[in-house]
Amino acid sequence: MSESAKLSFKGQDYEFPVITGTENESAIDIAKLRATSGLITLDPGYKNTGATTSAITFLDGEEGILRYRGYRIEDLAEKSTFLEVSYLLIYGELPTQAQYEDFSKEITHHTLVHEDIKKILEGFPSNAHPMGVLSSMICALTAFYPDSLNPNRSEEEVNLSIIRLIAKMPTFATWAYKNEMGHPVNYPDNSLDYCSNFLKMMFALPAEKYDVDPIVSAALDKLLILHADHEQNCSTSTVRIVGSSQASIYASISAGINALWGPLHGGANQSVIEMLEAIKADGGDAKKYLDKAKDKNDPFRLMGFGHRVYKNFDPRAKIIKKAADDVLAKLGVNDPVLDIAKELEHAALNDQYFIDRQLYPNVDFYSGIIYRALGIPTDMFTVMFALGRLPGWIAQWKEMRENGEPIGRPRQVYTGANERDYVSMNKR
Ligand code: SDX
Repeated sequence: MSESAKLSFKGQDYEFPVITGTENESAIDIAKLRATSGLITLDPGYKNTGATTSAITFLDGEEGILRYRGYRIEDLAEKSTFLEVSYLLIYGELPTQAQYEDFSKEITHHTLVHEDIKKILEGFPSNAHPMGVLSSMICALTAFYPDSLNPNRSEEEVNLSIIRLIAKMPTFATWAYKNEMGHPVNYPDNSLDYCSNFLKMMFALPAEKYDVDPIVSAALDKLLILHADHEQNCSTSTVRIVGSSQASIYASISAGINALWGPLHGGANQSVIEMLEAIKADGGDAKKYLDKAKDKNDPFRLMGFGHRVYKNFDPRAKIIKKAADDVLAKLGVNDPVLDIAKELEHAALNDQYFIDRQLYPNVDFYSGIIYRALGIPTDMFTVMFALGRLPGWIAQWKEMRENGEPIGRPRQVYTGANERDYVSMNKR
């Protein structure tokens, strides 16, 4: 029996259908709200508003649950690989051995980029933030593959764009880093797996032999899995709304990269390390920074803490925290900011302000400590987040397109001046 919700307004009663998903989440379908009652809803930040139905990722913020296509994140982080998880998110099922090999081979053979893209790269000063370089080069793919501008392309052509994106993102990400370092860029090595190829392009120098450390490659693969999708977050919603105008997939992903860049979203992993370094430089007084985070007159926030949806531990934070101990021990790295992070976490989890607001460590709180141990510089942390989130963005864009969703166009409540006549300059 389908449920419904009733609304009374100005003596009139209205009834709207309630839809319930496969995990028993329910939503009022307000598609006819304005037509029947003249009302719209108002929900800044969309804290209570579902933008779509989706079959890709399920998360339960109260219980700290995260699943990609029904598979637990804990299992995927432990047993899967980033390319296998990418296939799962985009095509909906875990691949067979043959499907996985085809997918991997396709990606390996699309890692090169047009040489003219280097001219775009050379136009960026070395102080350009890698996220700006990355989003620009991804958007530049619309110029090198103009067929992507056709909204009525075949499924095969759309799939080729998907392969190109996953294949070329590591090349662009490492080139952005090389531009910043003033080093020559490296070309992909098709004999290596996805993460090893990334590490070699990132760190190899012409003057020296470079061997990929399997510990580093495995740690990176796990981190990319943990970042691969997270339902309708800020950057994913950006990718969907840009894609809803029938803009190309490259333009949509480029927009998602820019949304992720902000310090309240993916940029938090860079801000966490900068915060921990500041605490260390300031004598390691975690309590002082906790008090700053609680002070309403101080704009400082405890970066890496809190979440729009998780009101319990972010399951990714738990996995990354454990991985941080493992990876640093295996690499023989002793990073004092890890101890500061743990002290800060302990203090916050026992502080009434954080308890009352259900503020827990999120995915960004520990990830930067591992990236740093892998030799990745701080301003590349959000690029790493984008590399991980790419298959999720693609899967969500593809779902939006296959569901034939309408162009996204929210309404507003106008609170400006009422009608008034124009006043000529000499009378103002
Ligand atoms: C990501 O959405 C996703 O799924 C994102 C993500 C993904 O995988 O895509 O999970 C990745 O973006 C993780 C979040 C990374 N950002 C940070 O770590 C930045 C620090 N955190 C916050 O700025 C904040 O917690 C947000 C932005 C993450 C969530 O903010 P909300 O949901 O809008 O909550 P809010 O700002 O309304 O805060 C509620 C209360 C407020 O206090 P009161 O006004 O009720 O007194 O909690 C306080 C806030 O001041 N608060 C914090 C805090 N986060 C919230 N106070 C101190 N430090 C913090 N970190």
